[in-house]
Amino acid sequence: MKNEEDVLILAIESSCDETAAAVVKNGREVLSNVINSQIAIHTEYGGVVPEIASRKHIENINPVVRMALKEANVTLDDITAIGVTYGPGLVGALLVGVAEAKAIAYAANKPLVGVHHIEGHISANYIENKDLQPPFIALVVSGGHTHLVKVEDYGKYEIIGRTRDDAAGEAFDKVARAVGLGYPGGPKIDKLAKEGNPEAITFPRAHVDDAPYDFSFSGIKSAVLNYINSAEMKGEEINKADLVASFQKAVVDALVTRAIALVKECKMDKLAIAGGVASNSALRAAVKAQCEQNNIKFYSPSPIYCTDNAAMIGSAAYYEYVAGVRHGYDLNAIPNLKLGERI
Ligand code: KG4
Ligand code: ZN
Repeated sequence: MKNEEDVLILAIESSCDETAAAVVKNGREVLSNVINSQIAIHTEYGGVVPEIASRKHIENINPVVRMALKEANVTLDDITAIGVTYGPGLVGALLVGVAEAKAIAYAANKPLVGVHHIEGHISANYIENKDLQPPFIALVVSGGHTHLVKVEDYGKYEIIGRTRDDAAGEAFDKVARAVGLGYPGGPKIDKLAKEGNPEAITFPRAHVDDAPYDFSFSGIKSAVLNYINSAEMKGEEINKADLVASFQKAVVDALVTRAIALVKECKMDKLAIAGGVASNSALRAAVKAQCEQNNIKFYSPSPIYCTDNAAMIGSAAYYEYVAGVRHGYDLNAIPNLKLGERI
């Protein structure tokens, strides 16, 4: 099953509320992908509680790693290197994965490769799209980030556009809370929006002066909150499905128009989407349709590889590993790590 030249990465991800481990072969073949989600626990609080996340990671990390090795039908001996997310994310959560990875690397005498979480999200596209190679444009939309990235080569990124305020996923989560849908809001809005009319209410599509590829979602979010308040004051019933469908359309429009414009400006022919919000069905459909219209090849990971997982970290770690990146046992968690920054 494993040839001499095969590179097997044991990857670990613990930057937010998923404790995950995976075994990935040669960057693109997932042998196992174990995810222990804490969503049910954090739902009670309406969002991720960092202190609880860290404690749960500590409880879960060893069983999750053991299960990833078992499901891949390998032992630590077969593993070439240990990959781990070391930023950005919640510091206490990241530290659990980093400490685990360092301990395994030391005990099993394997190289250690630290990975940027967003590099992982982008690399999720390599898993099922065997033909995808840089250069391409990536639209990264997660709970913490909204970036338009020029992927010049493996491990070489230029951020062209970013959000000035809320991340797209954050806007989904806040609007869902205001409408009473609970946490995490993205999947709940996605589902309810299917029953609503996206043209029912027109919300603003904010643009940032002099920065055509930057995003701003706080205006849309405030417009939704104002809409709810004014309906409540007038004693009017809100059609929640119409409301979230219209909100979702405003966010999707803002994302898609900029992404397509950037691909064209860079004279590229490939667009990949990544991050938790990339599993949104309306976003996937809109990007796909716009890509077809503009002769752009569209790439997206399956939803399970869009939200946080360790397979994507295994893919990213592979390309870092073959580029010669190695970290020492002094590797630390860096909560605000910049994309493309190697520490
Ligand atoms: O990438 P991710 O799992 O974690 C971060 O790195 O932040 O993204 C989580 C975010 C949450 O804000 C969640 O509401 C959003 O992704 N999300 C979605 C969907 N599934 C997850 N947003 C819209 N539609 C979805 N189907
Ligand atoms: Zn993420």
